[in-house]
Amino acid sequence: MAKLNSTEWIWRDGEFIRWQDATVHVLSHSMQFGSSAFEGIRCYSTPRGPAIFRLEDHLQRLLNSCRMYRMEMRYTVDELVAANCELVERNGMDACYLRPMVIRGYGAAGMVPFDSPVEVYLPCWPWGAYLGDHAMENGADTCVSSWHRMAPNTTPSMAKIAGNYLGGQLIKMEALANGFDEAIALGPDGMISEGSGQNVFIVHRGTVYTTPLNGTLLPGITRDSILTLARDAGLEVKEMPLQRDFLYAADEVFLTGTASEVTPVRSVDKLTIGAGRMGEVTRMLQRTFLDVAHGRADDKYHWLCHVRAERAVAT
Ligand SMILES: Cc1ncc(COP(=O)(O)O)c(C=O)c1O
Repeated sequence: MAKLNSTEWIWRDGEFIRWQDATVHVLSHSMQFGSSAFEGIRCYSTPRGPAIFRLEDHLQRLLNSCRMYRMEMRYTVDELVAANCELVERNGMDACYLRPMVIRGYGAAGMVPFDSPVEVYLPCWPWGAYLGDHAMENGADTCVSSWHRMAPNTTPSMAKIAGNYLGGQLIKMEALANGFDEAIALGPDGMISEGSGQNVFIVHRGTVYTTPLNGTLLPGITRDSILTLARDAGLEVKEMPLQRDFLYAADEVFLTGTASEVTPVRSVDKLTIGAGRMGEVTRMLQRTFLDVAHGRADDKYHWLCHVRAERAVAT
């Protein structure tokens, strides 16, 4: 379980406020109706100081989430990049997790949100391996959830919005209650969708498979990074509908996400995957991903936003 480790400062609508002062009214719209758009972003320790992984891509996804829910966003990606970099520096962070949030505050009494102001908060805090260091090396024990992901055209799966995470909570809590680390959920068509907070990859006879963007899953930025790195490494990559049983026949299964990074799966429904330890392809992709994120490998896609360099340009 991950409890919040507080830091000193949170950015709120253009100013820095103390962590303990970042409070909202119990009747704010987002509290009542789950209407906050948010992101999860990692900042890595690199030889050039802290670097935020794919910051612009995350912020663009945040702006897209706001757009879909008609939340008027007053800040540009560039302004939010600068604010996040200042946040990391002010809090004296090296490696940390950033959680930009756009909420609808106090005002609207009912579901129609327009009488509630849109407020932007940028917190960050230190956060280690989401499924634990043990799972990063030895793999997570997973199950297939009895809860399905949302159907396309119910709520937009491309939006990272708090309400979408009710399903994720049910999926994760059921897994934990049954003694698993994580669960993989199916979509309404019975095909594999995603984990509670991760995209799913399968390796079978040297080919890397993942599910297509079909309206049931979040288009993960880590997913996109892994697809890029796998193609770069000369692996065959296929985005296609995957049936549940493919998990049991897989040579390797792994999960990707900002919090989970690249986490191998050791078992699904108590059936051991491959040899029951991290497979070669997973290991190579995990290493390559972490090498880029930690600034140990060439950042040829410009995925790292170096906080100090960014601040030096801004001031
Ligand atoms: C439901 C869900 N799917 C997938 C992901 C992976 O997305 P990303 O790699 O952008 O963190 C996340 C994490 O944000 C998530 O919450």
